[in-house]
Amino acid sequence: MKDQIINLKNEAVGEILEAKSLEELEKIRINFLGRSGKINSLIKEISQLPAEEKKAIGRLINDTKKTIEESLQQTQESLKIKESKTEWLDITAPGSRPAEGHLHLVSEAISEITAIFSQLGFHRARYPEVEWDWYAFEGLNMAENHPARDEWETFFIENLENEKYGKGILTPHTSSGQLREMEKYAPPLRMLNIAKCYRRQSDMSHAPMFYQFEGLVVDKDINISHLKGTIDYFTKQYFGPDRKSRIRPFHFQFTEPSFEVDVTCLICHGKARLPNGQVCRTCKEGWMELGGSGMVHPTVLKNGGIDPEKYSGFAFGWGVERVLMMKYGINDIRLLFEGDLRFLRQF
Ligand code: PHE
Repeated sequence: MKDQIINLKNEAVGEILEAKSLEELEKIRINFLGRSGKINSLIKEISQLPAEEKKAIGRLINDTKKTIEESLQQTQESLKIKESKTEWLDITAPGSRPAEGHLHLVSEAISEITAIFSQLGFHRARYPEVEWDWYAFEGLNMAENHPARDEWETFFIENLENEKYGKGILTPHTSSGQLREMEKYAPPLRMLNIAKCYRRQSDMSHAPMFYQFEGLVVDKDINISHLKGTIDYFTKQYFGPDRKSRIRPFHFQFTEPSFEVDVTCLICHGKARLPNGQVCRTCKEGWMELGGSGMVHPTVLKNGGIDPEKYSGFAFGWGVERVLMMKYGINDIRLLFEGDLRFLRQF
């Protein structure tokens, strides 16, 4: 029966598209949707189906009916215009404005983030997404077999290996851009590396492909207050003046000391409770985790050809989709990649 319904839909839509006049269209409508039309005779057959099929078939027929109605309406409108066309043209009538779209949310966020950091003098950089182990791990103070590597569930590329730089991988984080930037330029450095990252992960808040933005500052006398000031500036500019940030001690191999950065929740503003006393379901604890940061490890500076006795720096690496979700309270990362207009039009 399912095939029968699908065939019927194709048949109807095909005929509608071919219709040359409103009269012809009306005949098609009666043939399919009329009282003794083809759809109604299908509906009559439902009662003979086994109970467990009734619901699904019923729904399919309904959808089919809707599709036919919609294409009837569309064709009807264009035929009406065609049939009513007369010889004169009002050149003073206002034109019809085409519907305007907007860039994808992720692209919009990338430009917004770039603009915020450019006010602080960060320049936008892009480094390879197919990368060597050295830049993503070894050079960032994570030797082969170091357990810290487990955090980054990395995709390795088959048969790609370099004697000096190790295995070929898909960048699991934008931190690989740190060493690339140090190799390319001498300090002072203010880099913002935004790129796709890849990890073997997939759930409501993780996708196998996502974007990160990585900040790196290296100069004389850079200390933690510069890092915290930069975090605060970004928090206020991107999330809004009423959001606050905090840093918590953490561990990364490539920064020392290291921190996790949190931002107050957009719903409960750091209180963890709603005005009615219930626990805030968006964050549960008042804060939402933004990502990692820290003072660049001396070994990393050395690996990038910079003298850690003379220079110091800070770095941070956060997810683009993640900040977007925290800004608007989006709870499923997959919504950002599905291209569903019902979702995208809300922005
Ligand atoms: N690369 C880290 C991650 O992906 C984040 C980070 C960047 C931490 C820079 C410290 C400094 O989780």
